[in-house]
Amino acid sequence: MPERAVLGYSGGLDTSVCILWLKEKYGLDVVTVTLDIGQGEDLDAIERRARWLGAVRHYTIDAKEEFAAQYVARAIRANALYQGKYPLGTALARPLIAEKLVEVARREGAAAVAHGCTGKGNDQIRFDVTIKALAPELKVLAPVREWGMTRDMEAEYAAKKGFPIGPKRSAYSVDQNLWGRSVEGGALEDAWNEPPEEALEWCVPPERAPEEPRYVELEFEQGLPVALDGERKGLVELICELNALAGAHGVGLIDHMEDRTVGIKSRELYEYPAATCIIEAHRDLEKLVLTRRQLAFKQLAEERWAWLVYSGLWVEPLREDLEALIASTQLPVEGKVRLKLYKGSLRVVGRRSPHPLYSHGLATYGSGSTFDQALAVGFIELWGLQARLAKGRRPSIGERSLEASPQRG
Ligand code: ARG
Repeated sequence: MPERAVLGYSGGLDTSVCILWLKEKYGLDVVTVTLDIGQGEDLDAIERRARWLGAVRHYTIDAKEEFAAQYVARAIRANALYQGKYPLGTALARPLIAEKLVEVARREGAAAVAHGCTGKGNDQIRFDVTIKALAPELKVLAPVREWGMTRDMEAEYAAKKGFPIGPKRSAYSVDQNLWGRSVEGGALEDAWNEPPEEALEWCVPPERAPEEPRYVELEFEQGLPVALDGERKGLVELICELNALAGAHGVGLIDHMEDRTVGIKSRELYEYPAATCIIEAHRDLEKLVLTRRQLAFKQLAEERWAWLVYSGLWVEPLREDLEALIASTQLPVEGKVRLKLYKGSLRVVGRRSPHPLYSHGLATYGSGSTFDQALAVGFIELWGLQARLAKGRRPSIGERSLEASPQRG
């Protein structure tokens, strides 16, 4: 009996040709796996296609809840934005897909796991690193990285094998799930081109968004959104509704010059309406309830967390160490945030919490202030102490030029 390979199957041209190739070149039986992570595609059609192309078995796995609870929730608490911009939808999904491929491979007694990534992107790293860490005994096959075919050549190869599956009409390479939609290629490859309207699916072009602003109220508990406009919802449902709602106001469009892990700079277009709203609101609520020292240090952890996840290092233990720190800040992150969506813009216009560090009595310029202004005088004496001493040195070291300084031996 031929050995088996378990292939992550999206239904697209690349992974479809992978089925044919793994059979022909490697003599493997191919088991295909498609995860439902809210990409909104016809999963039955994908399964039919896999079987038509010769998959000996197909798994459709509903992983929406797991994706939201184990991946997106951590990203929310970490305010995760790679290079300050990208909410990481594609990057978050890869380790989950890898884990499911490994699970199926073990159940099927397979010798190999296969994916359809090219050798130019981040996803190959995310898959390979995760699979090798979880299952060192499995071979990892990446046919698309190996074969060096263009998409036209792929279509030709499939046709020759009796499977007419032309390249998709879409000029763009798209990856989407419930956290967002990532778009590359086509006209976007010229970084000077404004993203054409036809590249957008989740966000209305801001200039055509409604004239009336839309207020949205998000409620958080322990750093996670639990209600939208006063109605409690599970995370999956809340994110999906917010995507539709904020996307209709043109909110969540991100145009990004991005540094891939392999060193290539790439122009990315992202549509992340819910992610943009949730992270903005979460970050704002944190400013109400965390100390300034917590905020400053958490930001370091957040940046490193997003970088690890982007870079394919989900399995790196530092990720969990950082999450432990982040989690211990989230207990007081409870309350409501009011957002105003208007023609592509997003503004936090109100926030409240049962655990605020904001005190009206301390802050007010009106009557009833509880802040003792006399205390400020002594505080300022000490606050500026060292700076004053340094400034007072003669001759002023600060004003001497480097050239004039003594030569080092
Ligand atoms: N640059 C992003 C990442 O590496 C998104 C990639 C999206 N992939 C795609 N085929 N459009 O996570």
